[in-house]
Amino acid sequence: MANGERVIQFSAREDGREDQFKQVWTQELNDVFADVARYYDRANHVASLGLWNWFRKSFLSTIEVKSGQRVLDVCAGTNAVGIALLGKQRDLEVHAIDRSEAMQEVGRQRAAQRGLHIESVIGDVHKLPFPDNHFDVVTLQYASRHLRIMDVAKEIQRVLKPGGHFYHSDMLRPGNKLVERLYYGYLRACLTFTAAIFRSNSAALNCRDYFISTLRMFYSADEFSQLLRQLGYQEVSSKTLLGGMLGFHKAAKAPER
Ligand SMILES: C[S@@+](CC[C@H](N)C(=O)[O-])C[C@H]1O[C@@H](n2cnc3c(N)ncnc32)[C@H](O)[C@@H]1O
Repeated sequence: MANGERVIQFSAREDGREDQFKQVWTQELNDVFADVARYYDRANHVASLGLWNWFRKSFLSTIEVKSGQRVLDVCAGTNAVGIALLGKQRDLEVHAIDRSEAMQEVGRQRAAQRGLHIESVIGDVHKLPFPDNHFDVVTLQYASRHLRIMDVAKEIQRVLKPGGHFYHSDMLRPGNKLVERLYYGYLRACLTFTAAIFRSNSAALNCRDYFISTLRMFYSADEFSQLLRQLGYQEVSSKTLLGGMLGFHKAAKAPER
């Protein structure tokens, strides 16, 4: 634990998140992403006021990959991370897992248009269908608020090779109360606006409040670092943008003794 850090009972916090959101996680979210898949990437550009590419590039600049490495992108969606990593290093072996067939189908087409292949598995990421010590690098972008993230981070640790790295990016709960209030106001307005222009279905519209509530109950950048350290990850580092609204974490699985 870092000096002066308040100890957080993450299991209790995760139970609270699951109690609150279980129904959306297990039932509604898949309908949302089935609808959103067709406009997911465009909607994010609009909702972020054009900052989406900057967010993506900032995350990618934190990720180190080497020739021939095996990479897993968890909750891969439309394969934004996998495609960008193959752009950085063409001979990676990239795997993707996501529960949404619709998102992965868009991702498969996006990769194929660029002459790239990403091995896809459709499934729930709370149990990763891969052997222990299998991947050099695991990434997870913009999905942790929809998961029991502590369980998924444990699974990621299991499938990472000793010394392998986990890279995480998500919208986080800003540490500052004023930034937090402004942020939620902005999100409410922009989710309504993007839902209207992309003619979202009722499942996506109903989830507007959910998206804000998940942020309220999620972790700040410092809390997320602590969660990773409590799980036994080493060399945990983080970087934030926009007053802590967006965070990038890097953590290593302990090397073999
Ligand atoms: C906001 S999208 C992010 C996609 C992608 N990582 C990106 O950066 O654009 C969240 C993704 O998480 C997936 N997801 C949510 N809960 C999941 C679960 N329990 N198991 C597998 N995938 C899940 C959704 O299907 C969706 O594709």
